[in-house]
Amino acid sequence: MTKPTAMSRLSELTLEEKTSLLSGSGFWHTKAIDRVGLASIMVSDGPHGLRVQPSAGDHVGIGGSLPATCFPTASALGSSFDRDLVGEVGAAIGREAQAQGVAVVLGPGINLKRTPLCGRNFEYLSEDPVVAGILGGALVEGIQSQGVGASLKHFAANNQETERLRISAVVDDVTLRELYLLAFERVVRTTQPWTVMCSYNKINGVYASQDPWLLTEVLRETWGFEGLVVSDWGAVDDPVAAVAAGLDLEMPSSHGFGPRKIAAAVADGALSEQILDAAVERVLTLLDKAAGGRVADIEMPVDAHHTLARRAAAASVVLLRNDHELLPLRPDLESIAVIGAFAAQPRFQGAGSSKVNPTRIDMALDALRAALGATTTVSYAPGFGIDDDTVDLTALQEEALSVARDADVVVAFLGLPPSFESEGFDRQHLDLPGEQLELLAKVAAVNPRVVVVLANGGVVTTAALEPYAQALVEGWLGGQAGGAGVVDVLVGAVNPSGRLAETIPLRLEDTPAFVNFPGANGEVHYGERTFIGYRHYDLVDREVGYPFGHGLSYTTFSYADFTVSVEAPTADHAEWRGAVRIRASVSVTNTGDVAGAEVVQCYLSELGAPHPRAVRVLKDFAKITLAPGETSTVHFTLRDRDLARWSTTTGSWIVTPGAFTVAVGASSRDLRAEATVTVEGEAPVFALDATSTMAEWLAHPAGRILLTEGLRNAPGGNLSFLLDDPDTVMMLGSFPLHRLAVMMGDALGEGFAEELRSTLDAS
Ligand code: BGC
Repeated sequence: MTKPTAMSRLSELTLEEKTSLLSGSGFWHTKAIDRVGLASIMVSDGPHGLRVQPSAGDHVGIGGSLPATCFPTASALGSSFDRDLVGEVGAAIGREAQAQGVAVVLGPGINLKRTPLCGRNFEYLSEDPVVAGILGGALVEGIQSQGVGASLKHFAANNQETERLRISAVVDDVTLRELYLLAFERVVRTTQPWTVMCSYNKINGVYASQDPWLLTEVLRETWGFEGLVVSDWGAVDDPVAAVAAGLDLEMPSSHGFGPRKIAAAVADGALSEQILDAAVERVLTLLDKAAGGRVADIEMPVDAHHTLARRAAAASVVLLRNDHELLPLRPDLESIAVIGAFAAQPRFQGAGSSKVNPTRIDMALDALRAALGATTTVSYAPGFGIDDDTVDLTALQEEALSVARDADVVVAFLGLPPSFESEGFDRQHLDLPGEQLELLAKVAAVNPRVVVVLANGGVVTTAALEPYAQALVEGWLGGQAGGAGVVDVLVGAVNPSGRLAETIPLRLEDTPAFVNFPGANGEVHYGERTFIGYRHYDLVDREVGYPFGHGLSYTTFSYADFTVSVEAPTADHAEWRGAVRIRASVSVTNTGDVAGAEVVQCYLSELGAPHPRAVRVLKDFAKITLAPGETSTVHFTLRDRDLARWSTTTGSWIVTPGAFTVAVGASSRDLRAEATVTVEGEAPVFALDATSTMAEWLAHPAGRILLTEGLRNAPGGNLSFLLDDPDTVMMLGSFPLHRLAVMMGDALGEGFAEELRSTLDAS
C-alpha cells in the first residue's frame, strides 16, 4: 500500500492543527502532527555549508553544529563567474543535507551589495543582479538536484545589517524591478526554489514578511512562484497580516503565539479559511516534496568534498595585480618569507548563522611548504595578531623583518579580522587594520618583492597596499580549503580565473550609497537608485581601485571577429526573457603559453534612455577554458527583457526603439569590441491628463497632434505659432497644461486642458 501524502491529510486537520503547521517546532523543524501521521522536516543554514545543530539547538540557534564541508563564501564563489562549478558546490551541499537529514538548505543569499559596508556581504554573490541571478540559480539547481530544497534569501531589499529587523528600505519601483528584485526573479522563474525566505526589513514602510505586493502579487502572481515562503528567523511582526500577505511558515517556533492569533482571526472572520488553507497546502506540499526527495543512508563524501572546496577556492581567487610576473612562484626560488598571521590562522568564513563547523582546515603555510618545500626554504613569521591586542607588536614586526630581509620573495597574508565583519552589524570602514599596513610598509622597505594575499569577505580598499605590493591576490573567505586553494594559484598549479563580482573602490567616500547609508529614523533611502557598484562609478566617471569584472591570468587572451545582429520583435514568450532581439559573438584566443580561463563579459548600453542613464550594464557572461593557442567562439543572445526598462506608467517591461551598444570585454573597463545597432520596440506609452506638462503632451504621439490642433483652433485665434519657436517650447514646456490655459485666459479658455484630455480618452 502506498503511503498517503501529507496533502491528502488536509481535510482531516482541525483549525488548531492547521494553524500549528504555520509555525516551526523549535529552531530547525516544522511541526509534526502525530494524530494524522504528519512528520516534521528539518531545515538548516546555509548558504556555503551546513550548520546542523545536533539537538534542539541553543537558545538563539547559533551554537555548535555537526561537521560539514565549509565551501568558499558567496563573495568568493561569485568571483568564480563559473555556473558549472557553483552548481557542483550546490550539489555537494545538497548531498551533505541528505546525509544529515536536512530537507531544506537555507540559502543561497542573493541580495546585492549596495554598499561595501554591509557586514554580511561575504554571504552575497555580487553587486550585479545578472551575476547574482545566474550563480544563485546554479546554487539552487545544484542543491535541489539532490532531492532537497533551497531557500532563496533574503527577499527583498535586505542590504544592510544596521537595524536590519526594523529598517524600512525606501526604494522606488524602477529600482526594485530593475535591480533588487531582478536576481530573485531570474532564480524563481528559472529554478523554482522549494522555498523563498522573506527578509527582516520593511520595504517602503511594509515588513517584507507581511507585504502582499511582494509575496503574492510579484512573487506568486507575476513570477509564478510555486513554493513556500518562510520567514527569516524572527521576522514576523504580525502573524495574521503575514499569512494574509502570502507568508506560509513562521520560523522559528513562536511557541503557539502565531498559531493562536491566526486561529482567532479565522474564527472571527478577519482571515478567510481559504487563505489559511492555501498556506497550509503549501506547507503540506513541502512535506511531500521532502518525503519524495529523501534518500536514506547516504554517505557524506568528506574527502571528495574537500577537494571540490579546494577547486572552488582556487577558481574564486582574483589576481588583481602582478608586476614583473612575480607570480607564479617558481620552484627554483631559493627562499620564500611568509609573513602575516593569516597564513597559519586562516580566516576562511564569516560569522553568524552561516558559520560551518568544518571537516578539516587547510593552512596556506602548510600548502606552500608542501608545494615548494622540496626545493625552496619557506620561513614564517606572523607579524601581527588577529583580533589579539595582547601580542608584542614590536617583537613580531622585528621577527617578520628579519625573515623577509633576505628572502627571494615575501608573501604577506593580510586580511580582515573576524571582529571587522559579520552578520548582525555593518563595517565602519573599508581599511585593513593599521598594524598590518604598518608591517607591510616596513617589510617592503627591506624587500620590495612582496606578494600580498588578502582574506576578507567584503572588499577592502587596496590604495594603501599599492605602493608596497608588487602582486596582489584577493583570496576572499575561501572556505576550509581556502589556504590550499590560494596556494594552488600562487604556485601556478591553477591559473587564476576569478573576476571581481564587486568593484573595489578607491575610497569609502566614493561608494554609491555613502550619503544615504545606513539611514536614520527607521528609514534608509535608496537615493542612488539603480546606480550601485560599477553602474555608479561609470556614471560619475570615477576612478576605482579595481573595476567590476577585473581579474588577471598567467596567460593573455585576444578578442576578434565580433559580430552583432538584430532581430525584429516577435511574440515569442517561451523563454521568460521573451524573444531574441540581439545576437552577438566573439572569438577569443589564448595568446600565452599556459592554459587558462577567460570570463567573457557582455555589456549593453541604451543610448536613448533618459538621464541619468547607465553607461553600460552586464547582460551575460561566459567562462571558457583555452589551451595555449586555442580559439573558441562565444555566443550571447539578448532577449526582450535584456533590453527592456520597467515602466511605472504601464506597470510592465518596455523595449524602447532606438540605438543600443553591445560590448564584449574582459572587465567593465576593459572592453575589447563594441558595435551600435538600432532595435525596434514599442513607443513609450504614458497617460496624459490636464496636469501633464506641455512637454509631456508634445512627447506623446497622439497628444502632440491634439495639442497642435487645439492651439490652431484656439478660441482667441490660432496659437500654433507657439510651437514653431524652440525657445518658447523650452520655456513653456514645464508648465502643466491646465495652468498654461488659466494663464492665457480667453486666448485658450480655462477648460482647454480638460477638453484635450477627454478627446484623447475618447480616441
Ligand atoms: C539569518 C538567516 C538564517 C536564519 C537561520 C537569520 O538570522 O538572517 O539568513 O538563515 O537566521 O539561522
